[in-house]
Amino acid sequence: MDLQNIDQSIGIFDSGVGGVSVLWDIRQLMPHEHLFFFGDNANAPYGTKRPEEVKARCMDIVHKMLQLPVKAVVIACNTASSVAAKSIREEVSIPVIAMEPALKPAHEIRQGGKILVLATPVTLALPKFQNLYALYGEGAEAIPCPGLMDLVEQEDMDAAEQYLKSIFSAYDHEQLDAVVLGCTHYVFLRQIASSILPEHTAVIDGNLGTARQLRRVLAERNLLRTEGEGSISFHTSGDEQIIVPRMKRLMERMRQMECRT
Ligand code: DGL
Repeated sequence: MDLQNIDQSIGIFDSGVGGVSVLWDIRQLMPHEHLFFFGDNANAPYGTKRPEEVKARCMDIVHKMLQLPVKAVVIACNTASSVAAKSIREEVSIPVIAMEPALKPAHEIRQGGKILVLATPVTLALPKFQNLYALYGEGAEAIPCPGLMDLVEQEDMDAAEQYLKSIFSAYDHEQLDAVVLGCTHYVFLRQIASSILPEHTAVIDGNLGTARQLRRVLAERNLLRTEGEGSISFHTSGDEQIIVPRMKRLMERMRQMECRT
């Protein structure tokens, strides 16, 4: 099935609400697009599961999205990208945009100090990150953060702040050039992280790069909508009554974070 047309939706998915942070950037850059967001909340978290399990979930989600159909898929999750991007690309002919922790941009701004990469245990253990680390890992330390995504899922930002504080307390803050938020859930904590760290420490994520990549790929294939009203629809494998309002609140959180930066 290869009947993409410009008016079809873009399918965006994550294990849960983290991908909403990517959805936000996509919406800012491509306001005319129809965006179909799916959070696999019933099966979250991905970052502490066996990779085969995560891969099976991702394949199932993408196959369902193809039935809609969608014109492109965004894996708005670093964990799912590490585990399944290759297999998904082998199976489908539409564009598939994946993510990775933004270690390269952090490496580019490093001033000889330290870089901390916060991500899920699965993301950090897999070859995709290991290869990235081999290229850009000088001065960088990978820090698995099991449980941190759950705090974001519960919107318990105070507990998430304590979690980050306890991680950062092991380091001399003055030595930190950059902190990479290598999980889309952690992007909601961007401002909290910045408030704990000194001003010179850059807090970096890959969201905007991912949105730009999507726009580039759609434009190349003449699939970019540049006029008409866009739309967003939220979907979850979890309890819609609870999760969809949460997704909308987190969209709003992104708007507020943007206003303050
Ligand atoms: N949001 C996901 C990521 O970017 C993963 C969270 C999880 O399910 O563990 O890695």
